[in-house]
Amino acid sequence: MSGIEKSMVQYFKDYPNLKFVFFGGKGGVGKTVMAGVTAMWFAQQGRRTILASTNPVHSLSGLLAQNVFGQPTQVTGVPNFWAYEIDTKDTIERSKADIKNKIQWFLKFAEISTQADAFVESATMNPAFEESAMFENMIELMFKNEYDVYVFDTAPTANARRLLGMSKVYSLWVNKMLKSREEAKSLRELLSFTKKKEEDPLMDYLVSFRDRMGRAQKLLTDEQLTAFFFVTLPEALPIAVIKRFINWFHDFGIPVGGVVVNMIIQKDQVNGSSPEFVRNRVAMQDSYMTQIWNDFGNVRALLPLLDNEIRGTEALRKFVKYVFA
Ligand SMILES: Nc1ncnc2c1ncn2[C@@H]1O[C@H](COP(=O)(O)OP(=O)(O)O)[C@@H](O)[C@H]1O
Ligand SMILES: [Mg+2]
Repeated sequence: MSGIEKSMVQYFKDYPNLKFVFFGGKGGVGKTVMAGVTAMWFAQQGRRTILASTNPVHSLSGLLAQNVFGQPTQVTGVPNFWAYEIDTKDTIERSKADIKNKIQWFLKFAEISTQADAFVESATMNPAFEESAMFENMIELMFKNEYDVYVFDTAPTANARRLLGMSKVYSLWVNKMLKSREEAKSLRELLSFTKKKEEDPLMDYLVSFRDRMGRAQKLLTDEQLTAFFFVTLPEALPIAVIKRFINWFHDFGIPVGGVVVNMIIQKDQVNGSSPEFVRNRVAMQDSYMTQIWNDFGNVRALLPLLDNEIRGTEALRKFVKYVFA
């Protein structure tokens, strides 16, 4: 059945400096499990590995059967393996306070007498704000550079796409703003005969934001460093979801590591006397497997549906053998 040209192991051998690994796909297909298994494999290779999650609904503590919330925590019994559920609520609160300060400064600067609260509300009460906070958490961890390998649970798919689509326009815009502000500033400085440097928190923020996004883009589009993998089941919806993601990613030059097909019913467990329900599902999976081979030239692993959920380091260790066969 295996038409795999390049396995997971081979992919990682071909990219020995790979550092940032992501798993995307529809809900429930096994992204968290894949992230956990991959992080464990890298740790087993002797690389200092962190498995991190930025989304507010965490599942790493559940996966590892160990509390890893709030700080990088050594995974019990596995050398080189850390896991970390980042406290997004805390980040969101902090960035809200931060934004409030900036808006207050700006209102004062522009001599507008109004309360900042309404502006803060509209700037922060939307899903994109939460998403941005998660993204900032992620790149902050990446920039700190304290691990050899970073495996992220749940790819910031929409965000990465938006970021890369916007970053060129954004950079142009910020540069233009910077230039006109610099001109205005130096004119004022000339007129006042003083060279006192003015404070401008909004400008500082824009510049640092542009620089961080530029750095993130550089890392996330470097195929020696980054790979996004997409997990699917042999079923219509999960296939449609990853097709869309892969197309976006190609458009923006984000490296796609390949496709993982999960929860395949093992044929050797099924015969003519198996329940009709099971035989029907096998036939359904077969037909979607044909589609998968037609549509994707980069399948990296075919994983069996196990008779139990995958939870705890022992279960992960066993699953490593399937993924990295
Ligand atoms: N190959 C598999 N066999 C059996 N159970 C699996 C398999 N892959 C994942 N699971 C289970 O399916 C559920 C969903 O997996 P999860 O990794 O949480 O999905 P996602 O992160 O994509 O939402 C979990 O209970 C997990 O243990
Ligand atoms: Mg998950």
